[in-house]
Amino acid sequence: MKIIDNVYSVGVVDRDVRIFHGYFTPIGTTYNSFLVIDEKVTLVDFVKEKFTDEFLNNIEGILQGRTIDYIICNHVEPDHSGALPRVMEKYPQAMVYGTANCEKGLKAYYPHAKYNFTVVKLGDALNTGKYNFKFIPMPMVHWPDSMSTYLEEEKMLFSNDAFGQHTGTGEVLDTENGLDKLIDRAGDYYANIVLPFGMQVTKLIQTVSDLDIKIICPSHGVIITKYIPEIIQKYISWSKNETDDKKVLIVYDTMWGTTKKLAEQLEKEYTNKGFEVEVINLTEEHYSHAMSRVLEAKYIFVGSPTLNNNMLPSVSAFLTYMKGLKPKERIGKAFGAYGWSGESISQINEILLSCGFETEEPLKALWNV
Ligand code: FEO
Repeated sequence: MKIIDNVYSVGVVDRDVRIFHGYFTPIGTTYNSFLVIDEKVTLVDFVKEKFTDEFLNNIEGILQGRTIDYIICNHVEPDHSGALPRVMEKYPQAMVYGTANCEKGLKAYYPHAKYNFTVVKLGDALNTGKYNFKFIPMPMVHWPDSMSTYLEEEKMLFSNDAFGQHTGTGEVLDTENGLDKLIDRAGDYYANIVLPFGMQVTKLIQTVSDLDIKIICPSHGVIITKYIPEIIQKYISWSKNETDDKKVLIVYDTMWGTTKKLAEQLEKEYTNKGFEVEVINLTEEHYSHAMSRVLEAKYIFVGSPTLNNNMLPSVSAFLTYMKGLKPKERIGKAFGAYGWSGESISQINEILLSCGFETEEPLKALWNV
C-alpha cells in the first residue's frame, strides 16, 4: 500500500494475537514495515516470522522484480526481525543497517542467516539516490538495540516501537479513528511497554524535536499524520510520570464478595470527594488493562482477600507486572477481607511501598461488611 510517492507499507496485520509477552492485545496488532523506492531500494524493518510469506508477497507486489539494496533493522525483537532469514535468502545482496546491539541480537537469534551488516550510530546517514536516511539510536526505548530512522527529504520518522499502538483492525492512518482513540491505544502501549524508560524517552524526544516531522511510521499500529504534536506532547507527559491528581484506580479480586464491597465503598467515598474513580475486577479484566489505567492515575488502590496466607494469584500477578513497569510518584492503598490471619493486606502494602509509592492506611474487613 502506498503511503506517499516512493514509500509503501509492506507490513502485516495480526488480527489474532491476544497475548504479547504477557500483555493482552484484544484487537491484535500490526508488524509494520516500509519499502522506500529510490535509485536504491530500502526496506525498513521486517515482520514476525509466521507472516513471512505474506510479507514477501507484499514486497514483491511493489518491487515487481527489482531487488532490495538496503535493509534498516531498527529493532531486533522477533516481532520486527523474525522474517530476516527468508528475506536474506531471497535478497542476499541486501546490506543490513542497525546498531551494534542489533548486530549482536541478530547473530544470536538467527545464527545461520547470511547477510552483511553495517553498524550505525547517531549522526550516520545512508544515501539511496535522492533520499537520505538518518539513524537515531534510542537505546532502551525499549531494548538496548532500539533505533529510529528519519527519512530527511520526506520528513518521515520510522520510529519503531516508539509511538506504537497495538491496533490490529486494518486501520492505516491516525485520521481514521480520531485523536481520542489514538491516544487511548498509544497510552495502553506506553504503559505496558515503554513506561520504565521515561529518561530514555525524554532523550529521544529531545533528539527528534530538532527534526521537521510530517509523518511518524511506528512499527505497530496506525501511521501518524495529523496528530503528531498531540502524541509527542503525550509522550513528554508520560515520560515525566505526570499523573492526574483527581484520578483514582481501584484494582481488586474477591472470593466471597467482601473485598468487592470494600472496593465499592472506596469508589463511593472517593467519588463523593470529587475524584474520578475507575474500578477494575481482575477476574473480569486482564492485569495489563489495569496497567494501562495506572498510566495517568495518581491513586492506586489494590485489594485482595487472604487465601492460604497470601493474596489471590490474580492480584499478585498485577502487582508483579506493575512493579516491573516502574510507575512513579503514586499514592497506594491496600485493602481486603480476611477470616483469621489476613496477610494479603500487609503483603499488598509492602509491594506498593516497594514500588516507591506513598501509602494510605490500609482498609480491612473481617469476614464481611
Ligand atoms: Fe515491537 Fe520491541 O518489539
